[in-house]
Amino acid sequence: MSPDITLGQRTQTPPPNHLMTEEKWITRFIFLESVAGVPGMVAGMLRHLKSIRRMRRDNGWIETLLEEAYNERMHLLTFLKLAEPGPTMRLMVLGAQWVFFSGFSLAYLISPQICHRFVGYLEEEAVITYSKAIHDLENGHLPGWKSLQAPEMAIKYWQMPEGQRCMHSLLLYLRAGEAKHRDVNHALGNLDQNTDPNPFAAGVRVQVQSVARSAGVASNAGKW
Ligand SMILES: [Fe+2]
Ligand SMILES: [Fe+2]
Repeated sequence: MSPDITLGQRTQTPPPNHLMTEEKWITRFIFLESVAGVPGMVAGMLRHLKSIRRMRRDNGWIETLLEEAYNERMHLLTFLKLAEPGPTMRLMVLGAQWVFFSGFSLAYLISPQICHRFVGYLEEEAVITYSKAIHDLENGHLPGWKSLQAPEMAIKYWQMPEGQRCMHSLLLYLRAGEAKHRDVNHALGNLDQNTDPNPFAAGVRVQVQSVARSAGVASNAGKW
């Protein structure tokens, strides 16, 4: 609200011009997802090498980290079904990957705990970004996505049910994935990196589901 001096009353301030279009959102998603696929792979690779080097078990962390990297790559591949990146974008992805891969690898060797915390906060930013896109879609700012179906690859990967295969549903699935990455990384950041077992390992998930089933509680420990 802003005061209107001439009329002596308050009038509604018009909203700022809406700048994000479908194309701009996709460009942003492609770049962000290309970066998001790096940390899980770096962390999984470094833990894999450490396990070999020290001839010790990894306590089930590697599978979750690689699964996260795979999931992020699926996010990227989904958007690539909707747009074809130009040479500038490809160059940006190349540069960002080189810088982020090198920097994150070094940081992970120094302090994996801080790296997981950092990724937890990055994933929270991803949740906020998807929330903004969902908000734009729900408020009619992205008419091109109103009746657009999710790519077939995404429908298969997330097993999207009939009637929930539109862009809105897809963005909800992606946001849920980012929220899961956030929670997993913050949880891993709380653990002793050398001795604690990974609570998200498949074996542990099966145990949680079985305990939840016997207690009559629904468990959401499934695909991200
Ligand atoms: Fe992602
Ligand atoms: Fe993520």
